[in-house]
Amino acid sequence: MSLPWQNPEPPIRDPAGLRTRARAVLAANDTGTMVTAAPNLYPHMWSWDAAFVASGLSTVSVPRALAELSILLCAQWASGMIPHIVFSSAAGYFPGVDRWRTEGASPPGVKSSGICQPPVHATLLRRIVERATARGGDVAALAADFAHQSLPKWIRWHGWLRNARAGDGSGLVTIYHGWESGMDNSPRFDGPYSRVHPGDLEPFVRTDTRIVEDVSQRPSDEEYARYLWLVQQMADARFDDARLPDVVDFQVKDVFMSAALAAANEDLAVLAERHGHGGEAARLREWAAEFREGVDGTVDPATGLARDRDVLTGEWIGLPTIAGFAPLISSADPEMRARQSALVDSEAWTGDPRLAFPLPASTSTVYPDLRPRQYWRGPVWPVMNWYLATALRRHGDNERYARWREASLAQLMEGHFGEYYEPFTGEPLGSWNQSWTAAVALEWLDDAPGIGER
Ligand code: SER
Repeated sequence: MSLPWQNPEPPIRDPAGLRTRARAVLAANDTGTMVTAAPNLYPHMWSWDAAFVASGLSTVSVPRALAELSILLCAQWASGMIPHIVFSSAAGYFPGVDRWRTEGASPPGVKSSGICQPPVHATLLRRIVERATARGGDVAALAADFAHQSLPKWIRWHGWLRNARAGDGSGLVTIYHGWESGMDNSPRFDGPYSRVHPGDLEPFVRTDTRIVEDVSQRPSDEEYARYLWLVQQMADARFDDARLPDVVDFQVKDVFMSAALAAANEDLAVLAERHGHGGEAARLREWAAEFREGVDGTVDPATGLARDRDVLTGEWIGLPTIAGFAPLISSADPEMRARQSALVDSEAWTGDPRLAFPLPASTSTVYPDLRPRQYWRGPVWPVMNWYLATALRRHGDNERYARWREASLAQLMEGHFGEYYEPFTGEPLGSWNQSWTAAVALEWLDDAPGIGER
């Protein structure tokens, strides 16, 4: 039986064809001022998407990659927060800037949301700068200058996360919305969301389910009502960091975000030392250690997986999702890394013989309530696999990196650059021509050892 998604026209036959197609996706999504996260479903800039997109773009053009990060930095709030959406002028996305009511809070002339996303930026900036340095010449000078000029802004971003979201010294970042995690409807948030009861919610009409016609691939309407209720609570509090703990019905210590921050602090320290801000490195390394220890401390001895914690109930959230592998991003403990690596190879993860490609799904494929087509409740996310694989390689695991690279390239050769993939059939789901999927295809193909790892 032939399925429509199995026959892209023209078919991709080799890595060169994949590279050409991935570049074309990024070019088509480039409005001139930003590369939108996807052509129709996400016609704006998303914070962590932009970081991955910039990294992929740097395989083609370092100046274009740096411009992408500059646009994102233009949207940084006075507090240091980098918002999760920078709106373009495109219509057709809900919730748009009006729903966020961020005017006056976001910088003049910028339209943004009022929450953040995982801080992967410094990790990817380091890759971009090292790639440019390896190339030498003007591009190396440009990247070095960008690093020097922008470092204070990235440090303020990390400082805001440390102080406004982890000021308790726990080494764990609090999120006030599942959207901040980037993994919106992951089962990890089912418990906290079950305690969010929308009150007098402004009416709304979704646009995502008009674009993704198979609504089973997207979060449900009940989930959306909760998402919007939290937006309303935060907008009513004018996104005042000091008030959020008192007014928001969803507060979770996000272990994945904390691991991303630990790694990004290390990367920022390296950049600071190399690009004229060496005096900041010690503080950044202290933050790195704090979050690294915070993440290691969440690991459930029984399962070996890292856990989130519901701040409002004090309960651990120990569900088998990809966030459970947060220590692979941040941990410096060889035993922890060995145990997690063995776990990710097991039949609950990449060792499941039913998988189309041996790559980790967003939720363990043996989880009883697995939904293999629904967003973060089961599908495989190419961007996640690349991010985790680069963390593995950076800690010396070339073997697993090589395996995931081979599987990822085979998966992406199908040619639609899906937002996410059905784990057992390899069907591309959600948005097609998703920018960060094209970006990581370029990164896998570039595969320059040592970049971002020294
Ligand atoms: N990920 C969200 C969406 O699906 C927005 O942040 O629209």
